[in-house]
Amino acid sequence: MVSVVIGTQWGDEGKGKIVDLLSKNANFVVRFHGGNNAGHTVIVNDKKYPFHLIPSGILHKKTVGVIANGVIVDLKVLVSEIKMLEEDGIKLKGKLFVSDRCHLIMPYHKALDLAYEHARGKNKLGTTGRGIGPCLSDKVSYNGLRIYELRNWNLFVEKFTFQAKIKNKVLKTFDATPVNIKKELEKFSQLRKVILPFVTDTYLLLNKTINSGKRVLMEGAHGVMLDTDFSPYPYSTGSNVIPGAVNTGSGIPPQKISNIIGVIKAYTSRVGGGPLPTELHGKLADEIREKGQEYGTTTGRPRRVGWLDLEAVKFACQVSGVTEITITKIDILSGLKEIKICVGYKLNGKQISYSSCGYEELAKLTPVYKELPGWKEEIAGITKFSELPKNCQDYIKFIEKFLGVKISIISTGPARNEYINI
Ligand code: GDP
Ligand code: IMO
Ligand code: MG
Repeated sequence: MVSVVIGTQWGDEGKGKIVDLLSKNANFVVRFHGGNNAGHTVIVNDKKYPFHLIPSGILHKKTVGVIANGVIVDLKVLVSEIKMLEEDGIKLKGKLFVSDRCHLIMPYHKALDLAYEHARGKNKLGTTGRGIGPCLSDKVSYNGLRIYELRNWNLFVEKFTFQAKIKNKVLKTFDATPVNIKKELEKFSQLRKVILPFVTDTYLLLNKTINSGKRVLMEGAHGVMLDTDFSPYPYSTGSNVIPGAVNTGSGIPPQKISNIIGVIKAYTSRVGGGPLPTELHGKLADEIREKGQEYGTTTGRPRRVGWLDLEAVKFACQVSGVTEITITKIDILSGLKEIKICVGYKLNGKQISYSSCGYEELAKLTPVYKELPGWKEEIAGITKFSELPKNCQDYIKFIEKFLGVKISIISTGPARNEYINI
């Protein structure tokens, strides 16, 4: 049985919390796309784990973590996460596996990411600065290096030096500091020693696992609104986010997927640039941002916030084939007198769908809102649906009915035990 968790908005929906919850019953939890631009938070016994590369379900004793071929890996970040967990007493040998097909995010990718952003000036995209775009562009232009190359040190040195010299020329044209090839190679020579014991053919491992009837949970990163094809490009991330990426990013055949869980935050947030039709500004936005602690897990940037955009979420659910929904952060909406939900878009007086909009249309359109009454009571930690305030129940039922997809979990707080099973 293969389940997939997908973010249905602009990322940071609370996927980490949900993946941790669902991993209790999973034998394997797998990252299959993106890189350390992802930041997935898990809170267990008041301790916060911000995962960027290691799958969020790893904290469960019997759950094995896999970083499959579709993930791009910054070795320094991976090594620091391994250390964070090992210092916490979690032994990772035999519990974490990394594909040798993963492409490496190099120091020059990060430098190029930042140089491009700087050059864009006021039109910058607001990337995480983690080298994602430049790494993926090297991947598809046959200029990437994979973990595979780390096995043969001489080959790695030769290929890294060739690429770094070219990238340094490009960096100079941006007036950016070139990377120090010798120093970077010294760092790689240390990092590879830590990583290589975890490296394996994860395709074989996962397919064997599935064929033996074990449970696999695929941990999506980012959100469908950032998908490289289905976002208002270039206000996107570099990878495909929709479940099609499970096949390309792990080698698991599509028909092995049994359910696709769409994670929806009860309102909208986004970090970085690009249109956000239901964005709020001023006092209300500040209140939601503070109460929801909407600051980036990866970069610490304040997140933009807005009303729940069901026109966009409906598209995300349809394109991803979502079979069930989990709603997170409903507790943050307590205390609002009325709550708006976007149920459609209008442009020049005519209805328009999310999928027909590019960034220009998304920036100009008017959201059509349904207004629902709010609720006063704080609901953090409630574990029964019937104990939620009536207006909160109605808000949740409205989402379920509008999307036509069953809600299975409602998260009522950041901690592991704060949720309602439906
Ligand atoms: P992800 O990228 O989708 O994994 O989400 P992030 O971890 O970047 O951001 C979600 C934030 O919301 C984290 O700080 C979580 O601890 C927190 N969170 C998750 N679910 C809930 C919830 O139901 N209520 C509240 N108040 N916080 C939550
Ligand atoms: P998780 O998995 C929120 C956004 C960046 C930027 C755009 C491109 O934690 O939900 P990139 O560095 O990928 O080239 O940046 O994509 N972005 C995310 N925003 N959560 C994420 O991941 C994101 N991953 C990428 O903020 O706007
Ligand atoms: Mg995040």
